[in-house]
Amino acid sequence: MKRNNPEWLKQAVFYQIYPQSFYDSNDDGIGDIPGIIQKLDYLESLGINAVWINPCFVSPFHDAGYDVADYTRVAPRYGTNEDLKRLFEEAKKRDIRIVLDLVPGHTSVEHPWFQASQKHGKNPYSDYYIWTNSVFEFPPSDLQVVRGFAQRDAGFITNFFWCQPALNYGFAQTDPSLPWMQPVDAEGPQMVRQEIKKVMAFWLALGASGFRVDMAMSLVKHDPEKTETARFWTEIREWLDAAYPEAVIIAEWGEPKQSIPAGFHVDFQLGFGSPGWVSLLRNQGWGSWRDPYNWSFFDESGHGTIMHFLDEYLPRLNETAGKGYIALITGNHDEVPRIAQGRSLAMMKLIYLFLLTMPGTPFIYYGDEIGMRYLNLPSKEGGYVRTGVRTPMQWSNEKNAGFSNAPAEALYLPVDDAADRPTIADQEHDPDSLLNRVRSLIKTRKALKALQADGDFEVVYAEHGKLPFVYTRAKGGQKVMVALNPSNKEVSVDLPEELNNADFDVLDVPAGAQIARNGSGWRLTLGPVSGAMIKVS
Ligand code: NOJ
Repeated sequence: MKRNNPEWLKQAVFYQIYPQSFYDSNDDGIGDIPGIIQKLDYLESLGINAVWINPCFVSPFHDAGYDVADYTRVAPRYGTNEDLKRLFEEAKKRDIRIVLDLVPGHTSVEHPWFQASQKHGKNPYSDYYIWTNSVFEFPPSDLQVVRGFAQRDAGFITNFFWCQPALNYGFAQTDPSLPWMQPVDAEGPQMVRQEIKKVMAFWLALGASGFRVDMAMSLVKHDPEKTETARFWTEIREWLDAAYPEAVIIAEWGEPKQSIPAGFHVDFQLGFGSPGWVSLLRNQGWGSWRDPYNWSFFDESGHGTIMHFLDEYLPRLNETAGKGYIALITGNHDEVPRIAQGRSLAMMKLIYLFLLTMPGTPFIYYGDEIGMRYLNLPSKEGGYVRTGVRTPMQWSNEKNAGFSNAPAEALYLPVDDAADRPTIADQEHDPDSLLNRVRSLIKTRKALKALQADGDFEVVYAEHGKLPFVYTRAKGGQKVMVALNPSNKEVSVDLPEELNNADFDVLDVPAGAQIARNGSGWRLTLGPVSGAMIKVS
């Protein structure tokens, strides 16, 4: 079936906002929706045209809001539904679309559906969650169970933390000896699907432009090929194409080969299930990066390789071309540490040159545009090690880095108090700042067709143990070549023969890059930690 792919996605550059930490408009120490509205001019000046907001709904916040207690009400600490509607409207005036976070796989234990479901007597919600036959039963070990937290004599299956009971989408493979594993077409799973669709319709009608979908691959249990989970999303996509053709669904799935055919417009290249992503961006000192496999490509030692990333990325790109997009991210509220950790300004600029010239849909995590750092903090709202990437946005050097007027001890999380912390105010007027570099790259991405999400991608030069990494993007007769040298040594490469007669128009060359004749061919030279963007004709 032919799917509708909204035009705007081709030009989309997303910005992710963790609402707790963006901007506090009412001095209570926590960010809020009116605060986001107040910062829309800033977002517009950055050039982004879409925003994803982490869950902002009623919740006990045992997992920062990924434990929803009311899907259709904004958490009072962030404001009201009216505020969110105003955000949709104000953002639209600036050509910015707002995408919400949908958590379809589980709720909070405080959700009224769960409160009813856990009761002893049979009621309309009894089968909204997955309950074992008895509290003394242990389910198969691939399922997480919580026992002893319900009136009914049963344990419930969870998706993440204990307080996030899995909604019942059924089991793709059932087991006659365990009848509580209901088939996908049973009444409970079918009702749950309708409920989630209603939630989506509610926010789309109010002006949301779509959803980032939490753990999108996790819905149907015992679904090894994800066939039944995909079937649900395909139905949702067909409904969206007909009813909300401009709306998008963005999967937290991490396997575009499954999620895009299933119906998602975009899927993320993420840390989990993606050694390629780790080998590309994860900073030194984190995870198993010292293993040669995990040296980040963007490391001055030059020990990294782009090949692990390409081995993973190219098949994904080829299989999804023309159908949907892969999202490369600077980071998110789960990925630790922050991308700028331990990296120089030159390296950060190089990373952005890469991220903003690749196909698909780039996502910038708030604060990464100025190189905010990871803070080592005690866990907040189920963040644990992730807490340090969730600290307040650093707007200025005023009180609380300009994030809030509340007393410092009332802040959601402490602000980075380092004397040399990056701030928007400091970088705003510095033409060489990371912030202004990100701005100009976003502008270039928007101006060049070849750099659009669906422009072709071709590797020109990529070799294990050698640099630079060179690729082209092309669309509608326009071709742009990008070359990257993360190492601290000058590197050169002879361009392939088919480019012998090409003309080059250097669009963007940080110091040290040159392209010069070498016999009848061309030789490209890049200085330490630098890159180039060159128009080819
Ligand atoms: C993925 C989210 O990004 C993460 O923050 C959350 O804890 C889990 N899903 C559970 O919803």
